[in-house]
Amino acid sequence: MTTTHDLAVIPGDGIGLEVTPAALEVAQAAGRRHGFGFRFTEYDWSCERYRREGAMMPPDGLERLRGHDAIFLGAVGAPGVADHVSLWGLLIPIRRAFRQYVNLRPVRLFEGIDSPVRADIDLVVVRENTEGEYSEIGGRMNRGFPEEMAVQEAVFTRAGVTRVLDYAFTLAGRRGGYLTSATKSNGIVHTLPFWDELVEERAAVHPGVRWDQEHIDALCAKLVLQPSRFDVIVGSNLFGDILSDLAAAVAGSIGIAPSANLNPEREFPSMFEPVHGSAPDIAGQGVANPIGAIWSAALMLEHLGHAAAAEEVVAAIAAVLAKGDVRTRDLGGTAGTRDFTAAVLALLA
Ligand code: NAI
Ligand code: MG
Repeated sequence: MTTTHDLAVIPGDGIGLEVTPAALEVAQAAGRRHGFGFRFTEYDWSCERYRREGAMMPPDGLERLRGHDAIFLGAVGAPGVADHVSLWGLLIPIRRAFRQYVNLRPVRLFEGIDSPVRADIDLVVVRENTEGEYSEIGGRMNRGFPEEMAVQEAVFTRAGVTRVLDYAFTLAGRRGGYLTSATKSNGIVHTLPFWDELVEERAAVHPGVRWDQEHIDALCAKLVLQPSRFDVIVGSNLFGDILSDLAAAVAGSIGIAPSANLNPEREFPSMFEPVHGSAPDIAGQGVANPIGAIWSAALMLEHLGHAAAAEEVVAAIAAVLAKGDVRTRDLGGTAGTRDFTAAVLALLA
């Protein structure tokens, strides 16, 4: 009997439309080897749709997604549509409505990739994904006057911080047994001392994990200078966002980085998407690196209970990169999206 996973697919804009089919083909190939399949339902929710219909998704969009086993998203964003429209009109509502409070971003330096640093890198950034600095609380006043002002409040709740810390400590326990907390409690005197206290509290519940904390500025420097010392790094919404792009760049290219927006309790679908955006500068040329999307599909396979299949996909990416003859332009090669995908598929035949 084969399991069929019911997947919502949102290719989005720009290179999202090019890397999404690549990732889904690889997921299907892995499924054929391991006895599972997919039913895809595609949604054209995007900046393109926003231009046509005035909204990124229909009013009942979240309701339509709710029943799927998982969501795969390419990227959204287009010149002429403000970035906060695409983010707050689609991605953030999905993350919040489906309580995807963990944003998981693995970073690895693959053999065959030129990195600005020479080191073994194999780490995971766990980003808090539903509160923190990305808050709707605040406002603007006196627009246009010299005394114009803007206030935005960061929101850290005991429940919200505790659950993401518990996820990160548990993950660290399964990996290298070492967790680093990103903080800035010397400068931000209310929310981050609270964060630090909760880290200490949760550490006591996970005695098998060694942990430390670093101020975000020093942590950024160490991530460049000594990336090999890190295993799991946990941070607030903003810190986690910045750290994961930095770590991805250190590991060679933003085109490689994957992410999972997880609802660990599985009450709602989780969402899988490459870290990169819609890359309007290269969209439509067939040259986008599909690794970020393919690796995100591997994270999805793992979440759906197919750890061995997920490992095979990541191993296939690693093998193609190590061989070195098929590489996209961002990695110094000449291959297109299709060429790289075909090389991965050949290993999963
Ligand atoms: P971006 O990630 O789209 O592009 C940054 C640079 O990296 C560009 O030079 C691009 O060509 C290159 N790049 C990105 N992905 C690549 C890939 N797979 N292969 C090869 N090169 C790649 O970020 P940018 O330029 O800041 O944003 C462009 C649009 O994407 C904006 O509208 C932004 O709001 C949106 N965006 C959407 C995200 C999402 O859907 N989750 C995340 C980040 C940005
Ligand atoms: Mg980012």
